[in-house]
Amino acid sequence: MNQLFSEHFRRNADSRDSWKCFSEHRQRVTELLLSLESPSYERLCILGAGNCNDIDLRQLLQKYHEIHLVDIDETALLSGIQMQCGKMPGNITLHTGIDLTGIGQPLEAWKAGLSGGEAAFQELLSQAAVATFDQLPKDCNVVASIGLLTQLFDCGVLSLGPSHERLAELLVCLRHRHLCLLAETLCSGGTAALVTDFVASTTLPDLPKIAAEQLASYLSAAIAAGNFFTGANPQAIHATLLHDAKLAPLFEQIRIHPPWRWNFGPRVYAVCAVEARRSSTPVA
Ligand SMILES: C[S@@+](CC[C@H](N)C(=O)[O-])C[C@H]1O[C@@H](n2cnc3c(N)ncnc32)[C@H](O)[C@@H]1O
Repeated sequence: MNQLFSEHFRRNADSRDSWKCFSEHRQRVTELLLSLESPSYERLCILGAGNCNDIDLRQLLQKYHEIHLVDIDETALLSGIQMQCGKMPGNITLHTGIDLTGIGQPLEAWKAGLSGGEAAFQELLSQAAVATFDQLPKDCNVVASIGLLTQLFDCGVLSLGPSHERLAELLVCLRHRHLCLLAETLCSGGTAALVTDFVASTTLPDLPKIAAEQLASYLSAAIAAGNFFTGANPQAIHATLLHDAKLAPLFEQIRIHPPWRWNFGPRVYAVCAVEARRSSTPVA
């Protein structure tokens, strides 16, 4: 068992009973997924669905004909569905055990001290950049990555260690591959929503109590002061989708939704969604 994935299984087990606590966050995410525009609502794919505490499956099943749930943790997906739907609905398909970093094995080898140094680091970046995810559904009308990006980053942090001098480079590489994956999963005209936490009350202690109407400006100031998770700055994600040579032709109508709070229990996260429409340009 990959030790990096075991850590995610442990975290999912810890937050399995957070249905009530996540209620406001779940409402925001579900409303977003119900409001996204797409030529049709045949197929929705959710990356990082985990315990499904942040999506209301019954509401989503009223709009989308097929729902594909993707996560490394099969137990989390099964227990989430059982909690919300009882038995498995025929139009939900699970894609479990898929490592969405694409480099879980080399990251584990690095963590175990079996690998390291400049050449191995370059190899990690190259492998992350060309990782393939053939088992995932294609031609989706909507794809949403929910709370996953920072967990993919955590695979890198747990492997290299938080103070590795080139950690940020790895995280940006993982982010770029993840944004490409969103494009690969969509049909032309389909919509991607990247929902990500980007800072927590751990470094922003007033986050839980700031008035709702001040939240956006409060968080803009935090970002301007550099107080956000490395790689998860929504403005940098927006700029990457707009200007990156590979990504920019794949997306149009890119926008950031106003942020909201995710009460996680032990801490509160600030969350935002970056939405983008898939253009008709084929992925190179
Ligand atoms: C913070 S959770 C998202 C919240 C989740 N939707 C819920 O309600 O429980 C992030 C999810 O990412 C998954 N994950 C972490 N690393 C992964 C990887 N390398 N590949 C695929 N999924 C991964 C975890 O198993 C977890 O379910």
